[in-house]
Amino acid sequence: MHSVRSPRVTVFPDARTAARVVAARLASALQENPSLVFGLPTGRTPIALYEELVRLTAARALDWSKVTTFNLDEFVGLRPEDPGSYRRFMQEHLFRFTNLDPQRINFLVGTANPEEECLRYERAIAEVGGIDIQILGIGTNGHIGFNEPGHELDSLTHLVKLRQETRRSNAAFFGGNIDHVPTEALSMGMATILHSRSVVLLAHGESKAGCMARVVNGPLTTELPASFLQLHPDADLILDAAAASQLTH
Ligand code: GLP
Repeated sequence: MHSVRSPRVTVFPDARTAARVVAARLASALQENPSLVFGLPTGRTPIALYEELVRLTAARALDWSKVTTFNLDEFVGLRPEDPGSYRRFMQEHLFRFTNLDPQRINFLVGTANPEEECLRYERAIAEVGGIDIQILGIGTNGHIGFNEPGHELDSLTHLVKLRQETRRSNAAFFGGNIDHVPTEALSMGMATILHSRSVVLLAHGESKAGCMARVVNGPLTTELPASFLQLHPDADLILDAAAASQLTH
């Protein structure tokens, strides 16, 4: 394991070890401040982290009752209870194992009027005083949340047209069929994410090695949304050996 500054890069031998260390850190933060506001991701990457958090919740009797959560994104057109929704994913992997107050679980609603829903979400984040710890995964094209690469990026929570590669990598959650993956999503924007007091990005596996090398060693560019984490004063990039295999320093 080695670290460099700004953003801090930490490389673990494997994803399970990374998840264990990050979960322990989050559990300690939660014990210190029971009213933490978490920003949470979905995808394959955070599953091991959620498993470790669930384990620690039982072992250390973690109290989630005052915690507030905001998930990063949701598919347009899906109801919270739909099997492919991110809301359902979170219920299955984390929420049902905790004593989180349902009132403090915040989610973008995929069936709401997109414009009003995005404004509502920004207001809700502001009302609780912002996000303390934003956990992130990363798409192979460098997207965070659903902020896709492009000539420009949106600051605030917004409606997104999903790229084909993003829909393809989400197909596993829709019976492997890309045609079943919605074409649009609602996502926190870049400023919403970067305003979080701290950010922890997790990346595992060889498929993330190319984009992580560019995030760490490359220039800041809208063509790689995660490169904007270089601007964040308290960002941790947590990689396994495979995801770190193309870093140059
Ligand atoms: C989706 C989510 C992202 C996530 C990405 C990577 O596109 N919107 O938040 O980081 O998938 O997913 P995985 O962890 O499965 O590689």
